[in-house]
Amino acid sequence: SRSIDLAVIPGDGIGQEVVTQGLKVLNAVLPQDVKLETKEYDLGAQRWHRTGETLPDAELEALKGHDAILLGAIGDPSVPSGVLERGLLLKLRFAFDHFINLRPSKLFPNTATPLAGRPEIDFVVVREGTEGPYTGNGGSLRTGTEHEVATEVSVNTAYGVERVVRDAFARAAARPRKKLTLVHKNNVLVYAGHLWKNTFDKVAAEYPEVSTDYLHVDAATIFFVTQPERFDVIVTDNLFGDILTDLAAAVTGGIGLAASGNINPTGAFPSMFEPVHGTAPDIAGQGKADPTATILSVALLLRHLGYEAEAARIEEAVSADLAERDGKQARTTDEIGDALAVRVAS
Ligand code: IPM
Ligand code: MN
Repeated sequence: SRSIDLAVIPGDGIGQEVVTQGLKVLNAVLPQDVKLETKEYDLGAQRWHRTGETLPDAELEALKGHDAILLGAIGDPSVPSGVLERGLLLKLRFAFDHFINLRPSKLFPNTATPLAGRPEIDFVVVREGTEGPYTGNGGSLRTGTEHEVATEVSVNTAYGVERVVRDAFARAAARPRKKLTLVHKNNVLVYAGHLWKNTFDKVAAEYPEVSTDYLHVDAATIFFVTQPERFDVIVTDNLFGDILTDLAAAVTGGIGLAASGNINPTGAFPSMFEPVHGTAPDIAGQGKADPTATILSVALLLRHLGYEAEAARIEEAVSADLAERDGKQARTTDEIGDALAVRVAS
């Protein structure tokens, strides 16, 4: 019989609230014969305050054994910036070699967006997840003086660029529009830009059915707002992808709907699914957080594990739920989770 062994890291702020709803919908959508086991990991700001630990080796090792990880949100204003980001979230992405950071954007009905009523928006950003300026390759000289010099080196390897570009071409080839756009800044970042463009052109030759495009990242931000329907699949580096996907979320319905998957397609390590949004400490504990992004992340998780029909049911449920949300007063976190759980239950 089938089973899913899931690690759950609720994290901080609204993380616990949204993860509870994600699990509720996961339980509702899974067929009877699939055995779901979950194990919660106490990681995040509270743990750090209590013990000074971010991600001890024993827990990293234990996480390795799961089929997938569902993460709520990590971070708190009481923790110095970077401690949990580097010591927990990025540590997981790097340790489990999550080289695909998959972030789909879809214009759902009745969402608060400057682009409401525009032609269909349905694109996916394939953000590189293990390289770029995120590697922590930098330093500071004469720190704290008037002569301080800080560097933050972007690392791009032929191996790392090729594997994400290949993944993006395969994804584009599998979609109806079959279009892939490379986003970089090769007019200024010439070394990395050259490696990305060369790799892109090389792999493109193997995918004659995929139409290709290149945009500088600054120009891409214009088209995200003025012509988002031109995008199908986008491939880009870690930092450009970080920035572009926040913008994508904002223009397609808000950060409350943006889902993501940190994926290792080889299956060597568990992939990790999380909403794009943060911990929102200002509304934590009030039942105001929209759990939809987490629930859509559960759909990505299911698709990754081979449960395509269940993933699609969640996405259809969200679409139908939003279509009916029009004009209704704001619902609580729990009410949205309940409504979606009812919709996906077969
Ligand atoms: C994201 C976040 C993270 C990132 C931070 C919290 C390290 O902004 O998942 O997009 O920059 O990748
Ligand atoms: Mn981000």
